[in-house]
Parts: sequence; C-alpha cells; structure tokens
Amino acid sequence: MHAPTTDHTPHSVLAPGQPAVVRTVTGIRDAGTAIRAQGRGVAFVPTMGALHEGHLALVREAARDGSGVIVSVFVNPTQFGPNEDFSRYPRQEARDAALAGSAGAGWIFAPGLEEVYPEGFATTVTVGGPSDGLEGAIRPGHFDGVATVVAKLLLMVRPDRVLFGQKDAQQVAVVRRMMRDLHLDDIGMEVVPTVREADGLAMSSRNAYLGPEDRAAALALSRGLAAARAAAEAGERDGRRIEAAAMAVMEDTPGVAPDYAALVDPDTFRPITTLDGPATLCVAAKVGPARLIDNTPIRPN
Ligand code: PAF
Repeated sequence: MHAPTTDHTPHSVLAPGQPAVVRTVTGIRDAGTAIRAQGRGVAFVPTMGALHEGHLALVREAARDGSGVIVSVFVNPTQFGPNEDFSRYPRQEARDAALAGSAGAGWIFAPGLEEVYPEGFATTVTVGGPSDGLEGAIRPGHFDGVATVVAKLLLMVRPDRVLFGQKDAQQVAVVRRMMRDLHLDDIGMEVVPTVREADGLAMSSRNAYLGPEDRAAALALSRGLAAARAAAEAGERDGRRIEAAAMAVMEDTPGVAPDYAALVDPDTFRPITTLDGPATLCVAAKVGPARLIDNTPIRPN
C-alpha cells in the first residue's frame, strides 16, 4: 500500500496506483483540467470513505472507459441526524486512498469541513418527491444533506460522469431528481449493482459496527428480500403481501428490529400497491449497533 500524497501533486509523477490527495476546490478543478488535457473524461465517485468492495466496484466501473477517476472522501455532517453515527463513522483516509488507487482512481478529493461549508454557508438543496418517505421520514433532513453535498461536489468537481451504488436506492432516486431539476443532468449518472458478501449481506461501511452475532442476524435483510422476490415469482401481485413476506423474515430473526419493508416505484419512490411493472423493494432494520438498508428489484412474473 502507498501512503497518500498531498494537494496539487501532478498525477503523472506519482507511482502507478498512488492517487494524489487534493483538498481544495481549485486543486480538484486543476485535476479535471489536467485529465481533459490528456483527452480523457472525468469520472467521479462520491463517498464518505471507509471504502469496501462496493465502492471499489464503482471505481473500477468509472475507470473502465479510460476516464480519469476522482474519488471524494468527505464524511458529510449535514446528512447525519443528531443521534446518528457522525462522530464514530470510520475515518481511514490513507487506507481509502490506497484502496481507491488500486481500483483505478487517480485522485482523492478530501476537502476539509471549511472548504465544503465555509463560514456563512446558507444554502440547502431540498428535493421533494422521492425524498418524502422511508429514509426521508425516518431520518428527517438526511436527504437535504445528501442533495446539498452532492450538488456541491458535482459543481466543485465538474465531472462528465458520476457513479452511485444501487444499495442506496432512495439516494439514487433523490440525486437523479435533483440533477434533473438543477440542470446537472449533462453529467452522466451511472448506477452500479449492489456488491454482496458471499452469504448475501450487502456491503456497507456500517457493517464494521456488527459483532459476530449481529453479523449473522443481519442476513435477515437479504433473506427477507429473497422471500419477497420468491413471493412475486410465485405470482403474488399484492404489494402489501410482498412487503409482508420480507417483514416476516426480519421480525422472526432475533436481534433484528425492522423499520420497514416497502415496495416502491424506483424513480418516484411512491408506494406500489399492485405489482404490474418495475418496482424496488426496500428494507431497513436496526441490527445491534448498526442501522442497515438493502433493496432488490421486484418484477411481475
Ligand atoms: O452514499 C454516500 O456515501 C453519501 O451519501 C454521499 C453520496 C457520498 C454524499 O455524502
């Protein structure tokens, strides 16, 4: 593993796989200019760090067409509620930089708090529609924080493409809406499938909070989704019954406190009562010290 370098280091002088770490808006825009001067596009993967295989799949996909890849690492305080895990969210920049570099990132954009939210900062992006239910209802203000920071990051980095993980399905819907509404949709948005552990657990930075018993119990989310998919495959069309199939698995698993199982339209996140087209089943549950989410596409048989 390589130690990260600091701001304004031209990528061309670095060892292969060793990303430059940039901390300023000016620096990251210079990086974009340098990438484009090489005739390459700029691909951007926004993250809060604590990188795992799910993030690395995004980085690899970003790099696949030869784009210069910028990965942001910024634990965004405005998307955490007062009783959430902002202070204990894992921060491991050197490790993240090395991992991102090994997957093809050339630049890590790791701005400090003051760079993103300078003194006097007073603008919030609120997205209606897909923000309203599920995570938006349970975590008030969460999607304002996400939409605001993603809009800011896109305007700071000015990429040609931006990549998100399907694991955060509602975030994807909110960001897509925001990018359309703010005319940021000249940036191509790509959504990469959820990466899972061999036993089905969706990869998440918050899995690091799980002890061995919690880790086993956490499988209730992916097993619940599988039960719901099986119900739909067996011909079930009633949205409430499909949700109930997932909920039953989570409720029957000791150590799991489900928040919801919800069948929704993938774009609007409105509830689906009768399955007659594309749908996403989203689940959320507390498992030990972690709050986990997962989802699956559900199609009528
Ligand atoms: O998905 C995340 O890690 C965050 O919500 C994001 C998109 C980086 C914004 O802080």
